Amino acid sequence: MVKNFPGNFLWGSATSSYQVEGGVENNDWAEAGRQGKVPVAGRACDHYNLYEKDFDVVKELGQNAHRLSIEWSRIEPEEGKFDEKEIEHYRKVLQALRDRGIEPFVTLWHFTLPNWFAKKGGFENPKAPEIFARYCGFVVRRLAEGDMAKFWITINEPMVYASMGYLKGKWPPFSKNFFRFLKVIKTLISSHLASYNIIKKINPELQVGIAKNNIDFDSTRFNPLGRLVQVFRSIFWNHYFLKKAFGHQDFIGLNYYFHKHFGYKFYEQKSDMGWVIYPKAIFHLLKELKKYNLPIYITENGLADAKDTKREKFIKDHLTWAYKAMEEGVDLRGYFYWSLLDNFEWADGFGPRFGLVEVDYKTMERKIRPSAWEYKKICETNSLEI
Ligand code: FCB
Repeated sequence: MVKNFPGNFLWGSATSSYQVEGGVENNDWAEAGRQGKVPVAGRACDHYNLYEKDFDVVKELGQNAHRLSIEWSRIEPEEGKFDEKEIEHYRKVLQALRDRGIEPFVTLWHFTLPNWFAKKGGFENPKAPEIFARYCGFVVRRLAEGDMAKFWITINEPMVYASMGYLKGKWPPFSKNFFRFLKVIKTLISSHLASYNIIKKINPELQVGIAKNNIDFDSTRFNPLGRLVQVFRSIFWNHYFLKKAFGHQDFIGLNYYFHKHFGYKFYEQKSDMGWVIYPKAIFHLLKELKKYNLPIYITENGLADAKDTKREKFIKDHLTWAYKAMEEGVDLRGYFYWSLLDNFEWADGFGPRFGLVEVDYKTMERKIRPSAWEYKKICETNSLEI
């Protein structure tokens, strides 16, 4: 059976600055890396220098969109001092996408803080919304002109950031404090609202949203307690931020990785990182987002699979369920596989291999994985044959 996607559907893959660029020294992750608390990204994929080659690959793979992020610590290395050279760099990056007919989705903040901002308390600082919005305003004023980039994501996965950095203590600033966790979520909400307002003031036509990690909190029908717990989890993790941002989003970006069943359940399929593979969850999550009445883009979905034995089926199965959600009225407009390249997977370093393209970190050589050619067929024909 062939499933045809709507004509203007966006097909792409995603990356983020610290995970792929290399040479970032001035943010909280690089600092924590120097202190031995987390792995160091170092040269990463050297994408800062190799972006044109990488975008040639994006084009070769038939993708018509690409999600990337701007490294705040490059743009504003000292508080209030903006680096024109770095803006120029990202202008070239966006131009390189445009030249290849690829629509950019630009994330303004993907987890990493400039050192000066981290030292001021980062998103615990009550002034954070103002500081963040000033940065966003600067970037958008410089980079959104002349139709260079229409889609902007202010914040990537606010709940994941707050939970890893302030509750689980695994990411900078390594805190395990519920009150700090809540405070950061609150400030991230205000930061999104402030940056949304600034961007829309610069150009109301720009499409602004967040990339939201939502989890499919599941349980058996016959466990009323389990169901109740899962409903509360979903209200908090999946919907709290989105509700607070209501009226200040032009689209919803959904990042889907996790399905959590209440109580024990056996899953045969897992990724290299032990993450359960459960494609139907994407259908549940998309249906849940329908009530916001906004266009939806899947801004991340992918798996660590070094041998590339599961990736093709993973992509096809998730797209099959996403298509079903569209048949049931969900306004889904694009899909970005995470990630274009193998890259620096935060506290897990360079071990996990998420890429459509394999990277040899010694030689920086790229090798397109077989699953990427299969994904290309989908992107180019705008249809999925199953
Ligand atoms: C998401 C992050 C992304 C990447 C994937 C695997 O939570 O947004 O940077 O690390 O997980």
